[in-house]
Amino acid sequence: RQNERESLYIVLNYAKNFYQQQLHHSEEGQAIGLSYFRERGFSAEIRKKFELGYSLDTWDAFSREAMAKGHSADLLEKAGLLIRKEDNGAGNRHSPGYDRFRGRVIFPIHNVAGKVIAFGARILKSEKGGNAKQANQPKYLNSPETDVYHKSEVLYGIYQAKNAIRNQELCYLVEGYTDVISLHQAGIENVVASSGTSLTTEQIRLISRFAPNVTILYDGDIAGIKAALRGLDLVLEEGLNVNIVLFPDGEDPDSYVRKVGAEAFKAYLRQASKDFITFKTEILLKDAGNDPFRQAAVIGEVVNSIVRIPEAIKRQVFFHRTSEMMKVDEQMLITEGNKLLRKQQ
Ligand code: CTP
Ligand code: MN
Ligand code: MN
Ligand code: MN
Ligand code: MN
Repeated sequence: RQNERESLYIVLNYAKNFYQQQLHHSEEGQAIGLSYFRERGFSAEIRKKFELGYSLDTWDAFSREAMAKGHSADLLEKAGLLIRKEDNGAGNRHSPGYDRFRGRVIFPIHNVAGKVIAFGARILKSEKGGNAKQANQPKYLNSPETDVYHKSEVLYGIYQAKNAIRNQELCYLVEGYTDVISLHQAGIENVVASSGTSLTTEQIRLISRFAPNVTILYDGDIAGIKAALRGLDLVLEEGLNVNIVLFPDGEDPDSYVRKVGAEAFKAYLRQASKDFITFKTEILLKDAGNDPFRQAAVIGEVVNSIVRIPEAIKRQVFFHRTSEMMKVDEQMLITEGNKLLRKQQ
C-alpha cells in the first residue's frame, strides 16, 4: 500500500517535470502554452513556483515517453494520466491508450508537503475552447480520484500558501487556480482555492491547521454568491471566523487584480471585506424588498448561521450585533437561536 502510493508520487512527479519541460523547451509548448501564460501575465518566477506546464496536442506523447522510462501502463492509469483503450485483446505494448491531458496548460496540484498528487489542465484561449478539436471540451480537465488524490480534501495552493497563512493568521479562499496564482504574483500569498467544487468540511479543517480566520473571495456572479453563502456556514461550524469580499459582477480575483493593480486590490480587500452577518443581511434583504415577512425570514437566516458557531460566547456577541443591526430584540434572537440549537441536538 505504502509502496503503491510512493510509486504514484514518483510517476506524478515525473509527469510534472515532463510537462514543465514541454512548456519551456518544446516548440509547441513555447508557441502555445508559454505565450498563453505570458498573455495572462504569469512571470517566469511564478510559473516556476507553481511548476506550471504544457501537455502536447498528441494522443500519447507523454505515456510513450513515460513507458520508455520504465513506468508501467498500469501505474500511469492508476495515477490518472493514461486512459486505457477498450481491451481489444490485442494488447499493443507501444500504444496502451491515450494521455488524459492533451493540448492543455497544466496546473500541478500539490499536497501540504509539496508532493504532486494531481493536475488541473486548461484548454487555451476562450471559455469555449481553443482549437476546433476542443470546441466541446470542458474548460478545465482534472485528474480523477486516485489513491493519493481525494478532491474533497485538497486545497489548491496550500503548499505554497501555508507559511503565509500561518504568519498572517488569515487564509483567503478563492475559486480557481488562476486566482491563487495571480494573487501570489500581486504579493498576496495566503490564498488557496477550493477549485470550483463546493467547499467541504475537510478543506476547512485543513485551513484550521494554519489559521483561525478565513476570508472568502469568490467570483462576483450568482454562482459565487451562492457558494459563499453556503461556504460561510461550513466555516462557522468548524469554529473559524469568516469574512466575505464580493467582487464587481463578472470579476474574479484574478481578473480584478489585473484590472486595478496590486495596491488598489489590497485596498479593495480592506474596504469591501464584510463579516458574515453584514454580508448575509445585505444580500438577502436586497431580495426581500419591502415584504415584512421576507424581511423577518432574513433575520431567521442570520440566526441559522449564528447557531452553527460552536462557542457560546461568540454566538452571544453575534446575537448582540444582529439585534443592533436589524433593530430587533436581542432576547428574542437568543430564544429563536436556542430553539434551533435544540433541534440540532
Ligand atoms: N473548474 C473545473 N472544471 C471546469 C470549470 C471550472 O474544475 N470545467 C474549477 C477550476 O479549478 C477553476 C475553478 O473551478 O479554476 C473556477 O472556475 P472558473 O471561475 O470558471 O475558472 P477560472 O479559475 O476563473 O479560470 P480562467 O480565469 O482561466 O477562466
Ligand atoms: Mn466562476
Ligand atoms: Mn478567471
Ligand atoms: Mn473564475
Ligand atoms: Mn447584548
